[in-house]
Amino acid sequence: MLSARVSTDTRVTLHTVPLPTLCHPHALLVRVASCGTNPKDWKLPAGILQTIRPSSDPGFSDGMNSGDDVAGYVAAIGPRVTEFRVGDRVAGLHELGVEDGAAFAEYAVVMDWVAFHLGPDCAPPRPLPVLAPESDSAHAASVGGVGDFSAGGGIGFDEAATVPMACLMAVIGLFMMLRVTPGPWAPLEGHDADDEDNKADEGKQRPLVIYGAAGAVGAYAVQLAQLVNVHPVICVAGRGMEFVRSLLDEGKGDTVVDYRLGPDKVLQGIKDALKGRLLMDAFDATSENGSFINLSRVVAPGGHISLVLPAFRPEIPSFIRQSATMAGCLWKNMAVHAKSEKRTLGRLDAGQNGREFGLMYSRLVGLWLREGKLKPHPVVVVEGGLRGLEKALQDLRAGHASAVKYVVRIGETKEITEGEEELTIAWENTCLK
Ligand SMILES: NC(=O)c1ccc[n+]([C@@H]2O[C@H](COP(=O)([O-])OP(=O)(O)OC[C@H]3O[C@@H](n4cnc5c(N)ncnc54)[C@H](OP(=O)(O)O)[C@@H]3O)[C@@H](O)[C@H]2O)c1
Repeated sequence: MLSARVSTDTRVTLHTVPLPTLCHPHALLVRVASCGTNPKDWKLPAGILQTIRPSSDPGFSDGMNSGDDVAGYVAAIGPRVTEFRVGDRVAGLHELGVEDGAAFAEYAVVMDWVAFHLGPDCAPPRPLPVLAPESDSAHAASVGGVGDFSAGGGIGFDEAATVPMACLMAVIGLFMMLRVTPGPWAPLEGHDADDEDNKADEGKQRPLVIYGAAGAVGAYAVQLAQLVNVHPVICVAGRGMEFVRSLLDEGKGDTVVDYRLGPDKVLQGIKDALKGRLLMDAFDATSENGSFINLSRVVAPGGHISLVLPAFRPEIPSFIRQSATMAGCLWKNMAVHAKSEKRTLGRLDAGQNGREFGLMYSRLVGLWLREGKLKPHPVVVVEGGLRGLEKALQDLRAGHASAVKYVVRIGETKEITEGEEELTIAWENTCLK
């Protein structure tokens, strides 16, 4: 099958490689229709994410298939998979840092506890914006929008490919690390939607700041906060402010603050939105460019900042708890890292139960998507399939992407269309390990 390899300097080359093996009884082999791209996909090969893959690893400089977001058809299942069948339309998250079965390829592997059903085939997707090699990314971003899958009932592969990594990160951040509520079955009280005089309920509110709310992780966190009635949601965004606003309930005090105005204005904007309430919870879905320093100036003593990039931040005063929201906890006991790196990874409560956590929330995320309670992040389709991946990753690296997820349609890769017959034969010869 065809697979892409991303180099340390974000060049992408295509290679013919063997089909991945189903090396776990709970594994699903997925014939990839669309795969999503994440900042991690260029950072990992570049050696920036040492907790996932140290650059001392043998073969590091050869580059890697670093993709993780998968949407497609189940092609084979491990012996202990009970909830998925061959032919099902699914999306899922491939394990970060594991090259075998990674997403930038014709076939990928995801575990059943981080996969979810997309429902029946949907109507042909309405045209989505495209990222062409010569595209001005900022423009592509501005025309991005949520795909229309209302007619067919199922979720389109392009939209689904925006979900696994970013949405599960948001779930981990809000429900495992910050614990804004015990879970979606326990929404916060207050702010009855039918009650025009909401003032009486303001005392019950627990404000939440989401820094980087236009990014995929941040925007899913905003949506989850709405699902559990956390208000006010105070967002920090810039170019994607209007998109973020579309996710908010301004009647319940939600608001957006513009980071482009500088740290003092960000601080003032957050304070104004707090209206004197203490800020105990902040989800830093940016974790760079001074985000956590700004948050440190406004989070109350005893409050909590959860960051998406793992490193101990000495700039955050010790009276504020800091933690790292890590997708890796869905497969591994990250508390081991926390122990060895002391305060670095902070509170990683999943321990060995990341599988159970992932299973529960993957099913819920699938349900919410199918019911329309959760909207996929705006999609920009990369032109040329895997041939366009390099442009997408370089745009991510340059910080051009605003409120969009670049999605690769594997079948649009020229070489794959030509080699389809040969691949079918190769697939038939594959067996479980
Ligand atoms: N630890 C893990 O396991 C893990 C997993 C997934 C992701 N991550 C990390 O999480 C971060 C976010 O990922 P993502 O997928 O959400 O990225 P993304 O969608 O590519 O984020 C792009 C957004 O970042 C926003 N942004 C850039 N600079 C900002 C600033 N100074 N303040 C506020 N917002 C800013 C932009 O907002 P505007 O458009 O409004 O300008 C843009 O829309 C990345 O660093 C990624 O590596 C970590």
